[in-house]
Amino acid sequence: MKVPLLDLKAQYATIKAEVDAAVAEVFESQQFILGPKVEQCEEAIATYSGCSHGVGVSSGTDALLACLMTENIGVGDEVITTPYTFFATAGVIARLGATPVFVDIDPRTYNLDASQIPAKITDKTRAIIPVHLYGQMADMDPVMQLAEKHGLIVIEDAAQAIGAEYKGRRAGSIGHYGCLSFFPSKNLGAAGDGGMVVTNDLQRAEKLKCLRDHGAKPKYHHKIIGGNFRLDALQAAVVSAKLPHLDGWTAARQRNAKRYDQLFSKSGLPVSLPFTGRDRHIFNQYVIRVLRRDELKSFLQKKGVGTEIYYPVPMHLQECFTYLGMGRGSFPESERAANETLALPIYPELTEAQQDYVFNCVREFFADGAGEAVRTGAANLSTSMD
Ligand SMILES: Cc1ncc(COP(=O)(O)O)c(C=O)c1O
Repeated sequence: MKVPLLDLKAQYATIKAEVDAAVAEVFESQQFILGPKVEQCEEAIATYSGCSHGVGVSSGTDALLACLMTENIGVGDEVITTPYTFFATAGVIARLGATPVFVDIDPRTYNLDASQIPAKITDKTRAIIPVHLYGQMADMDPVMQLAEKHGLIVIEDAAQAIGAEYKGRRAGSIGHYGCLSFFPSKNLGAAGDGGMVVTNDLQRAEKLKCLRDHGAKPKYHHKIIGGNFRLDALQAAVVSAKLPHLDGWTAARQRNAKRYDQLFSKSGLPVSLPFTGRDRHIFNQYVIRVLRRDELKSFLQKKGVGTEIYYPVPMHLQECFTYLGMGRGSFPESERAANETLALPIYPELTEAQQDYVFNCVREFFADGAGEAVRTGAANLSTSMD
């Protein structure tokens, strides 16, 4: 049997008519840049995310970059974030000449450990970027309290977390900005690159709209130095057509997560399962921890099961960040996670038979009795959803 990590063709088969019609409408209109399709998408996603404004941009990366630019963050400034994330989170900080300052993660959730932030705040700190990794939100209360106390901006990296909730509030609606990605593998994926900033602040939204269009207002009169960070109308149309399905897909991901939890918990295998509290985890990824991770990955690959490592090298150990001078051992939990985590197929269209196959392959791998449970800092084999 073949079980890919993600099956976008299976998803497309269920929504082909709607997506094709939405794309055809854009072709009929020949309005490809900004315009009504983008505005409709902005309104719908902002509402979905519990925010009053949405600004469509070219990618999740550019969403983060544009937020930092809106705050004039640059040379001499420091921005606190996690080293255990996709490159974009740290890359945008460095691209503007600011310094990424890392704090280690909570080993249960893989999200930044807010209790370590105070030790990293200096006169130069301007912002915090918590990342809601795998679809589960970071512990936002202490982040917001610290931000308020020190006058810092909070930019939520919600690229993997559209619709996730923390104490009943949606990803992107708690900080000053929320950054979403419509990269095709995200829970709400476009047919290419796309992203959005959501915010409850009108002035910030207006500045973002200006920045994404070369800082021009009106056209050809450049108030500020921006860039071309616009969301295509075609991508907006695809995202809008998919949005009504998002809650159903999320529910399917949550069902699949619960089923994996049940299968693995009963098995006694040395596999540590995702930890979640009572908040809404949208399972962009279902990530297990195992000690013989690389061996398990190759074994599953031979069996036709797609998996991925998110992420094999934490930011402070990336070659391009050598200049930050943080060697191995600087962030032990991030480094350990980078060696032990493995994402299993969790996409909505995954069948029970496919899921059983994935589980049975993992069981077969451990059949030699080797491997020991990994330490997580939380109880092993905690279940995902109550
Ligand atoms: C945590 C995180 N931040 C930022 C991004 C960047 O988003 P994009 O690929 O749309 O530029 C991603 C997407 O891969 C991500 O997972």
